[in-house]
Amino acid sequence: MDLQLTGTTAVVTGASRGIGLAITQALIAEGVRVVAGARTVTPHMQAHGAIALAADLTTPDGPASFIERAQAELGGIDLLVNNLGGGGDNEHPATFLTSTDEQWEEIFGLNFFSMVRTTRAALPSLLERGGSVINFSSMSSRIPHTAPLPYASAKGAVNTFSKGLAEEYGPQGVRVNTISPGAVLTEQWAGPDGFGAQLAAARGIPLEQLLREIPAEMGATIGQFADPSDVGALVAYLASPLAAAIHGADYTINAGAIKTV
Ligand SMILES: NC(=O)c1ccc[n+]([C@@H]2O[C@H](COP(=O)([O-])OP(=O)(O)OC[C@H]3O[C@@H](n4cnc5c(N)ncnc54)[C@H](OP(=O)(O)O)[C@@H]3O)[C@@H](O)[C@H]2O)c1
Repeated sequence: MDLQLTGTTAVVTGASRGIGLAITQALIAEGVRVVAGARTVTPHMQAHGAIALAADLTTPDGPASFIERAQAELGGIDLLVNNLGGGGDNEHPATFLTSTDEQWEEIFGLNFFSMVRTTRAALPSLLERGGSVINFSSMSSRIPHTAPLPYASAKGAVNTFSKGLAEEYGPQGVRVNTISPGAVLTEQWAGPDGFGAQLAAARGIPLEQLLREIPAEMGATIGQFADPSDVGALVAYLASPLAAAIHGADYTINAGAIKTV
């Protein structure tokens, strides 16, 4: 299927590994010119032909300067993928009462304010080109008990922000959607230094056993993690003209873990 994306441009945040790297690869495979952002530029980002830019998007000025450099590289932006996010792990408070302002601010800075600022900076170009925005939320925005509350709350804010943005700018030609993954088998889960390894150590079980148990523990009906490439393919489709009428939607990708209609 030709997604008709050849020659278009995209900016992907959080793109040095995990889901962001898979999105970058999927878009490049469709002929998209991609600026990939992360704090550290890695060989992985450039290996597939992305223009890799280093930027810390949690600083007040980081997003505007990142988008300015991205625009200079691309000439204009057809697609913004706000993939950057994190903190859905055990390093963050397990109970509300033990959580601090600093932890809430850190998680909202990473998952929400970086998105607000990056979107604000990219919107003029997206408006000019009739582009689209895909924002990353999480299954935990709908099932908050599956993650630390600051993270689930920040992702809830992402959904509300995205819906409001879709209403405000849809009539001017910019499509806005969200993707809400459940467990996706990134290095965070499967790598030796990731959250999965820490959790396995805390439970006193091998990582392989943890990875076998997690999908069922999260209620995944078909008993599996999503692969990062599944998410990359979904982004490419949602960005394409084939999805021209998909707007203000939230796509879950969680192997059946959300049980409500
Ligand atoms: N993986 C899952 O199971 C899962 C489930 C639900 C939702 N999600 C959501 O999906 C998205 C991607 O998750 P992921 O697991 O693929 O993430 P990840 O593996 O932790 O990767 C995070 C990316 O963001 C970059 N980054 C971190 N801090 C940054 C900063 N301050 N400024 C700029 N870049 C920064 C990292 O590179 P540097 O460290 O070099 O900056 C890296 O490229 C997130 O929004 C996450 O909440 C993931």
